[in-house]
Amino acid sequence: LSLVVLISGGGSNLRALLDAQSDAEFPARIVAVGADNDAAGLSHAEEFGVPTFTVPPTSFESRAAWGDELLEQIEVWNPDLVVCAGFMRILPPRVVSALSPFLINTHPALLPAFPGAHAVRDALAAGVSQTGVTVHIVDEGVDTGPVIVQEAVTIEPGDTESELHERIKTIERRLLTQAVLDIANSRVNLRELATA
Ligand code: GRF
Repeated sequence: LSLVVLISGGGSNLRALLDAQSDAEFPARIVAVGADNDAAGLSHAEEFGVPTFTVPPTSFESRAAWGDELLEQIEVWNPDLVVCAGFMRILPPRVVSALSPFLINTHPALLPAFPGAHAVRDALAAGVSQTGVTVHIVDEGVDTGPVIVQEAVTIEPGDTESELHERIKTIERRLLTQAVLDIANSRVNLRELATA
């Protein structure tokens, strides 16, 4: 299964996938890593000799034009699956319709709770005792596509946002790697999930 992974930040989820594919048995290969900026996580791809590309929204007149260029850069690699791993942009409809359901995202909350870019902070602010991780198919909405896998994460008293986010990421890395494995091994069928 060939993957293009999209990131915006540190790329610890990307790193987990790169480490997983170091095992020759792992049935997925990251063929390229894309970012919306000069993300620190691109260094993980470079370390593993994986090609990278950046498509900064600031270089484009519109979100649609940015999306079209991003899609073009992704399609160069003809991936079987696109993985948003800490990609902090909403993909325009043309991108989603071209790629979905072979387009997944990892989100640091138990969707549909706490969608959006501040899920960890929002869960803390809500005073709930647990939040979690969701790996889902990306559809036209924001964090609204069919769920592939979810796991709860306990919020400890006194947790700061970064402490909670690190605890979430520990689970997230395992869940994302497992989801890619299940998709590669056809244990998860994205077409069926998307039309269920
Ligand atoms: C992840 O928790 C992801 O779910 C969220 O931002 C974080 C990115 O972390 N959108 P990293 O860049 O993979 O380290």
